[in-house]
Amino acid sequence: MANIALITGVTGQDGSYLSEFLLDKGYDVHGIIRRSSVDYRERIAHLEGHKNFHLHYGDLGDSMSILQVVSKVRPTEIYNLAAQSHVQVSFDSPEFTADVDATGVLRVLEAVRLCGLADTCKIYQASTSELYGKVEEVPQNEQTPFHPYSPYAVAKLYGFWIVKEYREAYNMFCCSGILFNHESERRGETFVTRKITLAAARIAQGKQEKLYLGNLSSLRDWGYAKDYVECMWLILQNKKPEDFVIATGVQHSVREFCYYAFKHAGIELEFQGEGLDEKGIDKATGKVLVEVSPDFYRPTDVVNLWGDPSKAKRELGWDPAKTSFEELVKIMVDHDMAKVAVERASEGIRTNLAEYLEKGIVK
Ligand code: GDD
Repeated sequence: MANIALITGVTGQDGSYLSEFLLDKGYDVHGIIRRSSVDYRERIAHLEGHKNFHLHYGDLGDSMSILQVVSKVRPTEIYNLAAQSHVQVSFDSPEFTADVDATGVLRVLEAVRLCGLADTCKIYQASTSELYGKVEEVPQNEQTPFHPYSPYAVAKLYGFWIVKEYREAYNMFCCSGILFNHESERRGETFVTRKITLAAARIAQGKQEKLYLGNLSSLRDWGYAKDYVECMWLILQNKKPEDFVIATGVQHSVREFCYYAFKHAGIELEFQGEGLDEKGIDKATGKVLVEVSPDFYRPTDVVNLWGDPSKAKRELGWDPAKTSFEELVKIMVDHDMAKVAVERASEGIRTNLAEYLEKGIVK
């Protein structure tokens, strides 16, 4: 039987990498996109001409649209990556987050069942280390108790349990990947790593004065998203449907990420002060480049995530050390340095053009 994958959240960081990965493996890849008047398909634009890549309109908040796509595509694998994925935003939009991140998972599972695909279609659910939240154990593995600590995490906990329930009640091959933070040059610009690498590039090239961040002491286990999509696929190729922790097993603070990103952009920072008064100072010039703002603090924050990927390593043969923390920072900063340089060049051209127009050289 041909491999047919359906990806929700195909326009996101993970969706775009996973599409590339599955197309390379010869899959027919179908993605669900939402209608929007602004273009948000940048990450998959290069795939749109591929003969095995197909897009369908749908929304996790609309069960009929999911049912229609599933019945038309009749996938052999579904990767449910769509979500309201920003933890801080979930405090402002808790109901929307619950609808998409919790009930949305149920809609996918039910669509598969109602289409008679329960025995043939495997389902991957994008679960998260945020389930560990106010952590009860460090590092965290598949046995660590959950303690969700945001509306996002509470919604994702429902997603995790409903997947487990369908696995046991209907014998479906559905599993959750409990993914720790995974970043890349395609990461959304409001997540802390990308916010930092873009700011470091802009500050180094004179396009931004300062970077404002929230909790600098927060600890995360950051991996490279491109490595993690391979694991999503491996989870579905496993003999038994099981849940897996996907992480690097290495932990760093937001402050450390910031230090290394600026260093790679050519600026050595020294951090002074504490809490809201902490500052990141350019050692060479004495200028304050990083400040703390209460705007980026969360009502409850998860501050000690550290994953133990032993099970994925042992049972899936996955290598958590493919891309190191330092390499990840370098990939992101290099990308953003180039991006900012292009922006500057294009501004230069526009400025010259305006000058030429004014002088009547160009009409
Ligand atoms: N976004 C952001 N912006 N976070 C900041 C900032 C800031 O200016 N300053 C400090 N932080 C801290 C947050 O308080 C948090 O403790 C940490 O940096 C990481 O924040 P994010 O990058 O926004 O990611 P996240 O860990 O909350 O959530 C991401 O990873 C989860 C996996 O553990 C998201 O991708 C989730 O969808 C995913 O489930």
